[in-house]
Amino acid sequence: MSALVGLFDSGLGGLTVLRRLQERYPHSSCLYLGDTARVPYGQRSVADIRAIAAEVVMWLRHQQVGVLVMACNTSNALALDVAVAEAGVPVVGLIDSVAADLDSERVGVLATPATAQSGAYRRAIHACHPHAEVLEVACPAFVPLIEAGDLQAPALEAEALTYLAPLLAAGVDTVVLGCTHYPMLRPLLTALLPPHVRLVDPAASAVRRLGPLLASMGGMPEGELSGVEVVHPARRTRVCVSGCAEAFADGASRWLGYRPSVERVDLRSVG
Ligand code: DGL
Repeated sequence: MSALVGLFDSGLGGLTVLRRLQERYPHSSCLYLGDTARVPYGQRSVADIRAIAAEVVMWLRHQQVGVLVMACNTSNALALDVAVAEAGVPVVGLIDSVAADLDSERVGVLATPATAQSGAYRRAIHACHPHAEVLEVACPAFVPLIEAGDLQAPALEAEALTYLAPLLAAGVDTVVLGCTHYPMLRPLLTALLPPHVRLVDPAASAVRRLGPLLASMGGMPEGELSGVEVVHPARRTRVCVSGCAEAFADGASRWLGYRPSVERVDLRSVG
């Protein structure tokens, strides 16, 4: 039996991480928690973000997860130490994972206000690439519009142009999607960026890093999967939220390619 992988985010965003994980490890079992009662995280105070992370991670620990993936950059930026202390199992972060994989000296980062203000991306990238220029831009309008399911909203393009302007003026050649909701905007952002600018989703690096961990915990090593029956993700993934289950199932269908059955849970039940 392989370890149960726990993932959490404030809402739909972490599903972009879950989907990559399910694709790469077709035998993994996952527990996804969307803390939709408190979305968005990115406009909250540091103290709030840390207190929420402690509560969410303690709940996941009680569900017997064997490894935790921070599917939320805001929590990763401001509460990685909290998660590590509470989880009692290995924790995989997005920010360190992608920083190690970047190969650019001019990097732009789009992120929530809390992540951008924390400077976590700048520090992580400088630890691996000391001379890189890193410009972090806060994008407060994105998460509320994405959670509302309105990806065609004219406001989205107008906001995106505003957020990208300083990155383009600085001549970045790489833009990191520093919030797990933002890969949902990839078509829009690709259309607005010149072709030589690469969009990087940190989930790819984090999910890759998970492989050796899963293998060491009894999971099936990659490359040994051919010929083994693949179980549909719906049967090996539990999806929970702290807010409205039906609304989340509707929003999630679009990103998972199937409509998950979603449970509403009380995160304080284990305190
Ligand atoms: N998707 C999350 C992140 O990566 C949280 C966004 C929010 O709730 O503001 O930061």
